[in-house]
Amino acid sequence: MKINMNSLPQHIAIIMDGNGRWAKQHTMGRIRGHKKGAQAVRTVVRSCREIGIKHLTLFALSTENLGRPQEEVSALMSLLEEYLSKELKELQKQGIRLTTIGEIEHLSATAKEKLLQAKDSTANNDRMILTLALSYGGRDEIIFAVKKIMQDIKGNKLKIKDINKDMFGGYLQTAGMPDPDLLIRTSGEYRISNFLLWQMAYTELYFTDVLWPDFKKEDLMQAIASYQKRERRFGLTSEQLDNNNNSISLNQD
Ligand code: IPE
Ligand code: IPE
Ligand code: MG
Repeated sequence: MKINMNSLPQHIAIIMDGNGRWAKQHTMGRIRGHKKGAQAVRTVVRSCREIGIKHLTLFALSTENLGRPQEEVSALMSLLEEYLSKELKELQKQGIRLTTIGEIEHLSATAKEKLLQAKDSTANNDRMILTLALSYGGRDEIIFAVKKIMQDIKGNKLKIKDINKDMFGGYLQTAGMPDPDLLIRTSGEYRISNFLLWQMAYTELYFTDVLWPDFKKEDLMQAIASYQKRERRFGLTSEQLDNNNNSISLNQD
């Protein structure tokens, strides 16, 4: 699969879905599916870094996923802890900075501690920003932003007339990050499931039937190739885009 290295998406977001169904297909328990899914994370992080993607955001755990059976939630925490312990060296070597979005207070104490440590020690890396969405919900994120805005208005740090879409983005956990150019969802589900609701206003969506544990570099390349065939119009006409090659973008970067 050939891709054009001159028009790469700057930011790829992935809803890594299908671990449970992969396990079922292989007559294994769901937790084995999550384990295999963690291996796919390693492959995709490495591939994105190799290709030269600047931002990769992975939906690893939704607010709603925390309502799954206790055994599964604990296994997901252990896997996260294991991932962080094993991968930190590799992230450093590859110059990858790790960040998170979501309520990491809801994670296990060990996972939280390892995350803070990993964020801290990779803070100066700039080859790629890997953002893990953990205990993340798009609606929660928006409500949280609204609350912070209200506080700033009350504290006279902000005026109602100054609220606009650009500054609103700055109150979200993704502040300072460009919006995703490409969203990939695996496992044949065609929904957003409360991921990056505000940020995906003009994201190109790509759905594949491949289950997350089976997702390989080749699948990533296919998604990028599909993205590169599209015309992003941002509400304008093709003709306007032709007349204005100075890349029209709604991103906040
Ligand atoms: C995605 O796989 C991983 C998480 C949500 C944590 P699922 O666990 O949702 O897998 P399916 O959808 O049951 O196959
Ligand atoms: C979305 O997948 C969340 C993650 C991949 C972490 P889900 O499996 O939770 O989504 P639904 O329940 O199918 O919408
Ligand atoms: Mg699922």
